[in-house]
Amino acid sequence: MVVLGIESSCDETGVALYDSDRGLLAHEIHSQIDLHALYGGVVPELASRDHIRRLVPLTKQIVRKAGLTQQQIDGVAFTSGPGLAGALLTGALMARSLAFSMGCPAIGVHHMEGHLLAPMLEEQVPPFPFVCLLVSGGHTLLVRVDGVGQYRVLGESVDDAAGEAFDKTAKVLGLPYPGGPHLAKLALEGDSQAVTLPRPMLNRPGLDFSFSGLKTAAITELRNNTSLKKADLAASFECAVVDTLLAKCQRALKQENVKTLVISGGVGANQRLREQAKATIGKTGGQVFYPRLEFCTDNGAMIALAGALRLQGGEKDDLPLDIKPRWSLESLSAVPKTGP
Ligand code: KG4
Ligand code: ZN
Repeated sequence: MVVLGIESSCDETGVALYDSDRGLLAHEIHSQIDLHALYGGVVPELASRDHIRRLVPLTKQIVRKAGLTQQQIDGVAFTSGPGLAGALLTGALMARSLAFSMGCPAIGVHHMEGHLLAPMLEEQVPPFPFVCLLVSGGHTLLVRVDGVGQYRVLGESVDDAAGEAFDKTAKVLGLPYPGGPHLAKLALEGDSQAVTLPRPMLNRPGLDFSFSGLKTAAITELRNNTSLKKADLAASFECAVVDTLLAKCQRALKQENVKTLVISGGVGANQRLREQAKATIGKTGGQVFYPRLEFCTDNGAMIALAGALRLQGGEKDDLPLDIKPRWSLESLSAVPKTGP
């Protein structure tokens, strides 16, 4: 089954063609970073307008690249939430119209399910059950995954998401939007032991996170300590976030008696997190899986994959444009196992 995937929940237009037999056939991502950089954050109306401009040419481009005709597409998957309402509507409208004109089914996909399943686009697929650390700009979640659609949220951030804390701290450091990757680059030149920052919620039981206090502690340190090098603060901040995330991951694996950890979402592109996760989890006999770097951040491939799994499981949506700017991951239905 060949599925066209469309991602338009925030500031990236992503399209992809995924074949359930042959894997990923083609994909394209257009980032709107330059468009929003001037404003220091995403401007929703500009995001929607740009998605409208990009969706049709990008889709034509990947169909050509994959050497397919429209008739060879068996289904269209799109991100129907969570995300910015206007931006979601552009992808939903495009997907529904295309599917209607091609006479094939369309299906709305949960954006975080896309992130969660993204490592399945790689050669080495994580085995079920696994614990997934979903770390993006809007979410920080620890999820137990027993199969496609079988999700139990074990913990989440009670305030800022990890990516949000990266972005806000980076802003105070004078780095451009989105700050996460810029802060990580600056951190490479710094000493992660230069400043002692808190590892929030580690002395309490449970699997929730809190990054707002850590962000404030880093910003306060920068304001009070005028001789502090920005690179040292960046490295110390990054190290505190990574230590905190991984301590909770280890706790979750132990609690759930699971050996496999999946890390996904934009912050999953962070090198310190990837390397430290491999070392720490490896030490306890566990294994870590991540998507390749370009599929950590928003992309159409993860939506095409999640859509293909659901369409293969027999699901399909009716025609209404049902976008869900807020949507619980645990409300998704389980997909019966297909294939080997
Ligand atoms: O998953 P994503 O592309 O969009 C959302 O669904 O939110 O995640 C974007 C987030 C931003 O906060 C960005 O700063 C962060 O991921 N990010 C990083 C890195 N690359 C992206 N944070 C830390 N280190 C990175 N290398
Ligand atoms: Zn995302």
